[in-house]
Amino acid sequence: MSERETWATRLGFILASVGSAVGLGNIWRFPFQTAENGGAAFVVVYLAAVVIIGLPALLAEFVIGRRAEVNAITAFDRLDRQNWKVIGAIGIFAGFWTLSYYSVIGGWVIRYVYGSATGAYFGSPDGYFGTISTGLDAVALHLLFMTVTVGIVAFGIEDGIEKATKLMVPSIVVLMLGLAVYAVTLPGGGEGYAFFLSPDVSAIVANYRSVVPAAVGQALFSLSLGFSVMITYASYIGDDENLGIDGVSIAAFNTFIGVLAGFVVFPFLFAQGVDVGDAGPGAVFVSVATALGQLPFGRLLGVVFFGVVLIAALSSAISLLEVVVSYVVDNYRFGRTRTAVTLGAVLFVVGVPSAMETAWLGWFDAVAVNLLLPIAALGVVLFVGWVMGGDALDEVRRGTGGAETLSMVWLWSLRTVVLVAVGLTVYLSLLKLSAPPL
Ligand code: PHE
Repeated sequence: MSERETWATRLGFILASVGSAVGLGNIWRFPFQTAENGGAAFVVVYLAAVVIIGLPALLAEFVIGRRAEVNAITAFDRLDRQNWKVIGAIGIFAGFWTLSYYSVIGGWVIRYVYGSATGAYFGSPDGYFGTISTGLDAVALHLLFMTVTVGIVAFGIEDGIEKATKLMVPSIVVLMLGLAVYAVTLPGGGEGYAFFLSPDVSAIVANYRSVVPAAVGQALFSLSLGFSVMITYASYIGDDENLGIDGVSIAAFNTFIGVLAGFVVFPFLFAQGVDVGDAGPGAVFVSVATALGQLPFGRLLGVVFFGVVLIAALSSAISLLEVVVSYVVDNYRFGRTRTAVTLGAVLFVVGVPSAMETAWLGWFDAVAVNLLLPIAALGVVLFVGWVMGGDALDEVRRGTGGAETLSMVWLWSLRTVVLVAVGLTVYLSLLKLSAPPL
């Protein structure tokens, strides 16, 4: 058997992880979740969730991956805990499930890059979204997005994912910063900053049953946790890297881009008097398009904005596909390219309902983020905290030169606060789940 692939450089691993984390979750999902859950109050809970829950959970996935050096299902065999394989399986299934509709949104984004250039949506942003978001066009662009994703993954870890994300992540930062600076100059954008930045604490307390699970789910989704992505990516680390520093950098960077997206989206919206409460999967598309239609250089800004979103979406989509490809390549005599293409074809079919009907897309998203993700994350936290225990401590300390106290704090937070918080999220999320839109 040929040797298993690894990242060429440590930076390559960090950028690929950042590329996975920064995605539609930051730019498409975060703004409408913020709008639906009370604005700045949601942002506060989200930020707390990233630090208190997301970061320890991220390290937990890294520890499994680097210790086992194999895909997220076989990892549990390697760690001598066969019964826990089900967690990896849920994660991989969840990633597969998510990619099916993620790709449909990716298709919308492609459409908006093009629509910005031609000015197609400027006359009627609302009507435009309605026309392009479902039906045959949406199916075709979903296919296009899926094809590009498959293409990158087929090239492998070093030549595909690492090279692509090294180019993508810096472009996202530069373009987003540019847009945020531009947003400052908008007259009337001030209200947007206020909505985003001045939390009403009493609203958090009054609505914690919906705000808390939404914020925790968003924090986990945004860090690409629960879908075995970070387990898989960490399995390609060859050396004794300092996982703590890597984890903090990745989480900080991801949060920075999410917040930056807020600094772009909210001033844009308020400057144009668009109703942010009008949320849902179409929110960012309709509202940003409305705003762009009324701004100077709207077409150019539109191409830049949706171009960034597209890059971010692709670098996340490849990670979702890689999780499944990695499992197949590790376990069956089925080449990387054939696996990627076959899975891409299946994913395309699974995504068709989401491309035909936005209600299906919303339901797929809810099941992924409110059900599969917190369950898988709970499993990981329980496993690393209570089953691996001392082994996890050894692994997290590798490459850190000790870090005795910090690693103990990490382990005990996993065992207590993180476990309880994710458990509570699973419970509250279950209460919110709705039936499929049949
Ligand atoms: N973190 C990605 C985003 O914010 C989505 C994602 C979740 C990707 C889980 C991989 C795994 O868009």
